[in-house]
Amino acid sequence: MTGATDISRLASDEPLVEVAGITKYYGERRGCEDVSFDVYPGEVLAVVGESGSGKSTLLNVLSTALEPTTGEVRYRLRDSTMRSLFAMSEAERRVLMRTDWGFVHQDPAQGLRMSVSAGANVGERLMAVGERHYGRLRAAATDWLARVEIAADRIDDAPRTFSGGMRQRLQIARNLVSGPRLVFMDEPTGGLDVSVQARLLDLLRTLVADLGLSAVIVTHDLAVARLLSHRILVMRDGRVIESGLTDQVLDDPAASYTQLLVASVLQV
Ligand SMILES: Nc1ncnc2c1ncn2[C@@H]1O[C@H](COP(=O)(O)OP(=O)(O)O)[C@@H](O)[C@H]1O
Ligand SMILES: [Mg+2]
Repeated sequence: MTGATDISRLASDEPLVEVAGITKYYGERRGCEDVSFDVYPGEVLAVVGESGSGKSTLLNVLSTALEPTTGEVRYRLRDSTMRSLFAMSEAERRVLMRTDWGFVHQDPAQGLRMSVSAGANVGERLMAVGERHYGRLRAAATDWLARVEIAADRIDDAPRTFSGGMRQRLQIARNLVSGPRLVFMDEPTGGLDVSVQARLLDLLRTLVADLGLSAVIVTHDLAVARLLSHRILVMRDGRVIESGLTDQVLDDPAASYTQLLVASVLQV
């Protein structure tokens, strides 16, 4: 049984993202090679594989932090037109990042401002999409702290005073408050204790389903992929070696490498 919502009722016919032949080399070193896939509206895609298999490279290309060596990523704007991300101007890409996308980092310090208040961390994202009214910013921050299970009386505290799990929940609130359509996550539960991970995963699963978000989640943890994703890409040495519906890939892996991953034989 999968933890993710039944996709058949969410998926539309047209992809939100089309990834075509993405290759990224760091000098001579291969980051990823010839990766192609689509992401549909409301779909959660997990990218799994051992450390060094190219997961973060791929995610950083998708989110335009890195330019690919070759290949193309096309994205469907809110007006339905399909645009090639690396043919857009830097300014246009920044607007997309602010308005349409979220990025949840493994290390909350990368995605939060650690010494400004929790409320400001959430409010700032809304200001970036044009909200200026103090009362509405405060109300939205209050609402989002509740949604990520942070007590209302912590709104004026800075995240550096928060536990790891709280920081990660705050990072999620900051990313979702502005109503993105696509969220990238790199090992969102990576640095956390197992008990804290379970709560965070449950929260993520609920939010992603309630908001009908599309997400690309990089994880080396197959339990995370099982719980959150509809589809899986398995990467090895920069290449996608297997892909399919999450349950099918995890319950009946075709590639012998995936069989080893599933059997936890490999050190990931
Ligand atoms: N900035 C970089 N410079 C050179 N090589 C890199 C850099 N980032 C990643 N790599 C290499 O690219 C490959 C894929 O790395 P990465 O995408 O970080 O994998 P993963 O996220 O699956 O652990 C690895 O061989 C790694 O050493
Ligand atoms: Mg990585």
